[in-house]
Amino acid sequence: MKPSIASDLLSEQPLQTLDEWDDFVATRYQKGKSEEEFRNYAADANPTVTEFYRQNHAHQTLQFVLSKREQYLKLQKGPKSIWEAAEYLNTLVDESDPDTDLSQIEHLLQTSEAIRRDGHPRWFVLTGFIHDLGKVLCLYGEPQWAVVGDTFPVGCAYSDQVVFPEFFAANPDSKVPEYQTPNGIYEPHCGLDKVYMSWGHDEYIYNVTRKYLPEPAQYMLRYHSFYAAHRHGAYKNLMNRHDEEMFDWVRKFNPYDLYSKGADRPDLKTIKPYYDDLIAEFFPAQIDW
Ligand SMILES: [Fe+2]
Ligand SMILES: [Fe+2]
Repeated sequence: MKPSIASDLLSEQPLQTLDEWDDFVATRYQKGKSEEEFRNYAADANPTVTEFYRQNHAHQTLQFVLSKREQYLKLQKGPKSIWEAAEYLNTLVDESDPDTDLSQIEHLLQTSEAIRRDGHPRWFVLTGFIHDLGKVLCLYGEPQWAVVGDTFPVGCAYSDQVVFPEFFAANPDSKVPEYQTPNGIYEPHCGLDKVYMSWGHDEYIYNVTRKYLPEPAQYMLRYHSFYAAHRHGAYKNLMNRHDEEMFDWVRKFNPYDLYSKGADRPDLKTIKPYYDDLIAEFFPAQIDW
């Protein structure tokens, strides 16, 4: 039996599934919406999504981010192949929907197949296939607010271009004056590589795969949920010229993430050999997670 919304809201896992957040973002940026309609996102958010952002914005402090980086970025969770990670992620099934056995792998393949259909380079297709593998953080026991959600820099003022900016008032960092100037603990235009982003699946998959992929792919992975910057142009004060150039790639990637859902169900058997070759071209048999 599904728990009632009221009891869900009390938990640290308010979303029925992680996809609920992805679906909200896709609705928020539905094609054809005006900028004014984007701004009315609260209307698209159901109570569970709203509660999810409340928790995310309240708990993602600089200290929290530093502790998660320390915990995970040494990549000591053991070696896994890309397929092993994808299959592991797929154990995160949506219990409310018996038809979605392949839901996680399917989103990855729908994204990468759409990129492939448009004739993009092989590394770009591969990036589509792996972009959400960082969601395995959920299986390590992380709460939803520390896995998904729009990402934003910590240690500096929050932009009102981040969704639900009012929820930042509950974040302890909002009371630290040093963190609430536009540049906060950073130098102006220091470059995003020097900036700590809220913790989640983007930063994790970037770190797991960075050694093996070209730089545009690294940017796509690391900043694909940084909507305030790649959609709304916020945080330019922290970006350098190189970031600005690389964000063209992040913007090129984003529509495939948002709009490939509901495309034809990929037939894994037919396309698996292509992906086996593609993965072997860039990655060793196993990599550290
Ligand atoms: Fe993602
Ligand atoms: Fe995605």
